[in-house]
Amino acid sequence: MLFSKKIAFIGSGNMGEALLGGLLKAELTNPENILATDIRDDRLQEIQAKWRVTTTTNNHEAVHFADVIVLCVKPQALRQLLDEIKNDVRDDQLIISIVAGITTRMISTFIGKKNPVVRVMPNIPAVVDEAASALCTGEFAADVHKAIAMKILGAVGEVEVVSEDLMDVVTGLSGSGPAYIYMIIEALTDGGVMMGLPRNIATRLATQTVLGSAKLVRETHVHPAMLKDQVTTPGGTTILAIKELEESGLRPMLIRAVETATNRSRELSHLLEKKNNLD
Ligand SMILES: NC(=O)c1ccc[n+]([C@@H]2O[C@H](COP(=O)([O-])OP(=O)(O)OC[C@H]3O[C@@H](n4cnc5c(N)ncnc54)[C@H](OP(=O)(O)O)[C@@H]3O)[C@@H](O)[C@H]2O)c1
Repeated sequence: MLFSKKIAFIGSGNMGEALLGGLLKAELTNPENILATDIRDDRLQEIQAKWRVTTTTNNHEAVHFADVIVLCVKPQALRQLLDEIKNDVRDDQLIISIVAGITTRMISTFIGKKNPVVRVMPNIPAVVDEAASALCTGEFAADVHKAIAMKILGAVGEVEVVSEDLMDVVTGLSGSGPAYIYMIIEALTDGGVMMGLPRNIATRLATQTVLGSAKLVRETHVHPAMLKDQVTTPGGTTILAIKELEESGLRPMLIRAVETATNRSRELSHLLEKKNNLD
């Protein structure tokens, strides 16, 4: 389905490159079908050398080229970008936005047209094709548009579909989540170092433990609590460590982290709406 679609990635930073690279690595499309833009020419030279796609600093050109426009700029750059390209946008073009906090309604209002809009919240492991993404559709998007977005995001990991009011929760869980896991890897490593392991070995063991445990949950579909019980011997080492984690409040701490990040995401989204006189 995607092979014939022309896709413009506007903003070729971490995420823009991860998404276009993911599509090419998965051989879902050819470099001729992709055009990448950025305001930095040196960045585009890197992208072009690595992925053999056409690049330009001219966003008008990119919009004229595309069937699908993927918005990959930072939230603060979006309004200006949409003002710049809105007259070039044709009604039939699908707009996919990965811009945090910007609703489909805001995008439709900024453009002033009834384009199908799909909003996505990916996360940084997209860079290694292990993203946890969620998407929602705007008022004018149909199943066919959702399917295209799922295919693009599916090239870099797992994709869930949610209603738009849950996108802030997605931000608080999987959008911000990699940072929580990096802290856990770092802390486990420190524990190993404190007890005598060389840091490089401790880092590798901690990292692989997180990766392997996640893989076991994903592949077996066994509830994490059951998997935990399976590795907890009566009177053994793990149950004592679990008691420490429970007493130190690991669970409520992580639950509160997701709650706090979700609330902050809501707050930032409202601020953006207010700033643009849309509330
Ligand atoms: N990174 C994440 O973990 C993550 C997760 C979920 C969602 N997102 C969302 O993904 C979006 C991109 O994030 P990122 O980490 O890829 O950011 P990034 O690395 O800063 O990439 C954005 C790129 O767009 C360029 N740009 C700015 N204005 C532009 C314009 N008018 N036309 C074309 N290019 C322009 C930027 O250039 P300059 O650097 O020169 O400004 C930069 O190279 C953000 O909206 C973010 O909310 C990111």
